Amino acid sequence: MIETVCFDNEAVVILDQSKLPDEVAFRPCHTPEEVAEAICSMKVRGAPLIGVVAAFGLALGMRRFNGSAAELYDYFYSIKEMLASTRPTAVNLFWALQRMEKLYLQHRQEPAHVLGDLLLNEAEKMRQEDIAINQAMGENGQALLSPGARVMTICNAGTLATCGYGTALGVVRSAARRNKIDMVWVCETRPVLQGARLTVWELMQDNIPVTLITDSMAGYTMQLGRVDAIIVGADRIAANGDTANKIGTFPLAVLAHYHQIPFYVAAPLSTVDLSLPDGKAIVIEERHQDEVRRCSHGYVTVPEVEVFNPAFDVTPQHLISAIITEGGIITAPFAEGLKRLKEGR
Ligand code: MRU
Repeated sequence: MIETVCFDNEAVVILDQSKLPDEVAFRPCHTPEEVAEAICSMKVRGAPLIGVVAAFGLALGMRRFNGSAAELYDYFYSIKEMLASTRPTAVNLFWALQRMEKLYLQHRQEPAHVLGDLLLNEAEKMRQEDIAINQAMGENGQALLSPGARVMTICNAGTLATCGYGTALGVVRSAARRNKIDMVWVCETRPVLQGARLTVWELMQDNIPVTLITDSMAGYTMQLGRVDAIIVGADRIAANGDTANKIGTFPLAVLAHYHQIPFYVAAPLSTVDLSLPDGKAIVIEERHQDEVRRCSHGYVTVPEVEVFNPAFDVTPQHLISAIITEGGIITAPFAEGLKRLKEGR
């Protein structure tokens, strides 16, 4: 399993996903600013992964700090705010930074080098926990699939979006290990092409059968009767189950409903945000207009055209058949199950 993030030689080393599938390139980030830039520019992306990368960025900042003890508190919060301002939708980013903050506050009387070690250990713990969580999610979720399953997915919710194994692709992986997967239909996922560039690459590395389609081909593929289930990841799940995920997820859920195909969301409990009653309050990131104007090597339109480029959409809970978590599978009504699992009951 390829390593998407690690800490080595006083740098946060990330697999630079902007280079895939052409090149497998690892990039050391030597400062928290470089870590923040890597998240903003989507060199690392995927909800669970950006949380862990930000945690490593905070630890890196602490280890590099060389000011006075009196300046440490403000420094910690300036780095935390910088990392938190990178991307607004995936709650895992804020969840991870809050977990680091809690540890910092418990030990804030310690000198910076001790805090640096403590925070680094915590980030590494999160990294390892994430892999174990995904494996548990995969085990839980694979039970929903029957032998011969043809699964559709969008974006990349795999190893590349996590510290390993993946969420939606973790379920696919666990099912594939039981020889249950006949095909994974991968939507290309315009405008950033996470499906075409990342999910296809990742599944082919594992010899899992994959077919690429453009996003507009999803409905016809379902109409032909070639899809048995849709499995997607999530960036934030509100208390009632409404789910923000990559733009294009909501139309897949509508199409699945029309064709009576089960629509599953696979996400760790750190993606559940009980502070939001429903999806209306989820902040949807809007990214640069050039992501839509351009495709790979150049413009595909008139360069001056106005563009709307939301990076995520929200799927209403009534279109979701089940939410797969490390703690178990939740079905409607979601509110009670999400609260119970999130609170560890
Ligand atoms: O903009 P991205 O590539 O960070 O969006 C990623 C997604 O939408 C994923 O489906 C989601 O983060 C879940 S990843 C396990």
